[in-house]
Amino acid sequence: MSEKTTKILRIPGPELPPHLLAQIDAIFFETAPLAPQTQPEREAFRQRWLGRYLADRGDAVLLAITAEGRVAGYLVGALENPAAQERFADISYFRTHFAELCRRFPAHLHINLSEPWRNRGIGAALVEAFAEVAARAGAPGMHIVTGRGMRNVRFYERCGFRELGSAQRNGGASVFLARELDPSAS
Ligand SMILES: CC(C)(COP(=O)(O)OP(=O)(O)OC[C@H]1O[C@@H](n2cnc3c(N)ncnc32)[C@H](O)[C@@H]1OP(=O)(O)O)[C@@H](O)C(=O)NCCC(=O)NCCS
Repeated sequence: MSEKTTKILRIPGPELPPHLLAQIDAIFFETAPLAPQTQPEREAFRQRWLGRYLADRGDAVLLAITAEGRVAGYLVGALENPAAQERFADISYFRTHFAELCRRFPAHLHINLSEPWRNRGIGAALVEAFAEVAARAGAPGMHIVTGRGMRNVRFYERCGFRELGSAQRNGGASVFLARELDPSAS
């Protein structure tokens, strides 16, 4: 990571102090311009892509913390196969298009950085930290799902992910990008 003063912390979601939680929420909505504007849709959107991972002690919550103690970005992820867990039944592509891939690459993540902290290698450091956590937990692989043609695809490819599947959706395609892990190396 080029920012020598930024460190990565893993904190169980239920133990997050309110000031860090507030900054994670701010980054989540800053990076989600299509988030619904009205409650309770807004809260359901947050729960789907962020809240559920903060509520579960077994999930990974990794924070990039600046020298001033601010949250530059976060990564949340689950370590076990989402296609086999009832709590992810509301995200249909895990079971419809990507069930077999989820078995081979069970860990999955969501990552967002505040705008001033992008393009400095902090995202790659968060992904590497998650790879270590997932491998240590015994996951043989990890994946992310994003949109075809999104700028972040290049980032994931540089982090060692490759496209193994896709699913058509309204107005585009979701792509399944995966990377193998070596649990025995951790
Ligand atoms: C994607 C992201 C986590 C990468 O972290 P980072 O520390 O900026 O990444 P690095 O410095 O290691 O690499 C830079 C790459 O990040 C990606 N990136 C940078 N800014 C971005 C932005 N506004 N939107 C999408 N991807 C971006 C690009 O792939 C970039 O490479 P490029 O310059 O060749 O296009 C971070 O840029 C970000 O939070 N972007 C906005 C939200 C997002 O796309 N989250 C992922 C949702 S699946």
